[in-house]
Amino acid sequence: MEKFVIKGGTPLEGEVTISGAKNAAVAILPATILASGKCVIENLPCIRDVNVSLEILHALGAQIRMLDRNTYEIDTTHLTGTEVPDELSRQMRASYYFLGALLSRFGRAQVAMPGGCNLGPRPIDQHLKAFSALGAVDSVDYGMISVRAQKLTAAHIFFDKVSVGATMNGMLSAVLAEGQTVLENCAKEPHVVDLANFLNMCGADVRGAGTDVIKVRGVAQMHGCDYSIIPDQIEAGSYMVAAAATGGNVLVKNVIPKHLEPITVKLERAGAVIEEFDDAVRVSRTGELHPLKINTMPHPGFPTDMQPLMSVMLSVAKGTSTVTEGIWDNRFRYVDELARMGANIQVDGQIAVIEGVEKLQPAPLRASDLRAGAALVVAALMANGTSEISEIQHIERGYENIVEKLQALGAQITRIETHPAALSQAL
Ligand code: EPU
Repeated sequence: MEKFVIKGGTPLEGEVTISGAKNAAVAILPATILASGKCVIENLPCIRDVNVSLEILHALGAQIRMLDRNTYEIDTTHLTGTEVPDELSRQMRASYYFLGALLSRFGRAQVAMPGGCNLGPRPIDQHLKAFSALGAVDSVDYGMISVRAQKLTAAHIFFDKVSVGATMNGMLSAVLAEGQTVLENCAKEPHVVDLANFLNMCGADVRGAGTDVIKVRGVAQMHGCDYSIIPDQIEAGSYMVAAAATGGNVLVKNVIPKHLEPITVKLERAGAVIEEFDDAVRVSRTGELHPLKINTMPHPGFPTDMQPLMSVMLSVAKGTSTVTEGIWDNRFRYVDELARMGANIQVDGQIAVIEGVEKLQPAPLRASDLRAGAALVVAALMANGTSEISEIQHIERGYENIVEKLQALGAQITRIETHPAALSQAL
């Protein structure tokens, strides 16, 4: 097993370039199935979830050519399968997008109950509601979800809950259905808009993405296209928090500043200084950190995926912060790890009360999921001394080149194999 060894206490300084958005990539890759042709997808982050998505496409019969590290040509003209291999779909939550895409093109699909981060119950009833409204029948047997339809016909679908996944699967399953589908109470995240833009580039007719109501007029067929994925809002936010938390000064490049506004507003209130450019933001902090009240909400509210990172920063703010998690039931699991570093955080249900302490102490830490893991990296960068973080496979599912990017900002971080000799060499 691998670990990160981090010697903290140094403010981050320099420039970092943000990769393509994970949560857009993991929907757009399955969506290439709908093109029934050749797509060139640029700005794909080189992370495990993207590799798994490409492996699934390959297993289904797609021809895949790597043009460079972040660009792939994917030809879905001659697909041979509609069943996503069990061992691949279990590796990431987003394998559920293959249900919508395969159902749409072939009228059937089978995917194992998706894996991914353990953030509490992660039902997909709203995805199935959309498929069923369009005329599909679903069944769950031995952990496999199957959907099937003779024909998909447009419908009016009101989501009972704002869900990124259900909104995207609603679009995927409706683009080739006969007539105009109306999706209401949709998620408005930037990756929802990115998927709609990709589908439209492939000949679909999707309007309203980024608002509560999305209208999808079914088209007879779609075609391939060249498409570049948007920058990752959460990766950008993670480096912004790391800069503010360590009292550094970092230019975060290749971002869409508008997507970062919910994060920017909170960081400014906490005492960071943020300068916006066309496609970059500079984050710096010299004064003390102020406490905040944060409630996580669907976009354009404060993103749940930033919650663990913000809480880490607030653990050394001057005063009491409250953080309310409004999306997931189980997203405070990193708090026990922070307590080992001397943080004072009390969790009651969905609310964490954070009493700022003077300093975090280094400690051996374990990443429990992707964003919790990224938050622990920031915590270790803030602590004077050497921390180790294990279970880093969670972090590497979602952050491209995190070690190299942090090293370029002056961080002392190394990735090691966890046998004792390697550890003593790293320190
Ligand atoms: N929900 C339902 N029924 C459904 C679907 C969702 O009740 O059918 C509930 C969920 O239990 C949750 C809420 O609705 O309480 C929102 O879930 P959503 O469907 O929006 O989440 P998701 O699509 O499964 C994506 C991201 C997550 C991110 C959430 C919220 C991907 C692959 N994952 O998950 O990202 O936290 O949206 O923004 O896009 C991450 O990147 O670390 C991550 C976990």
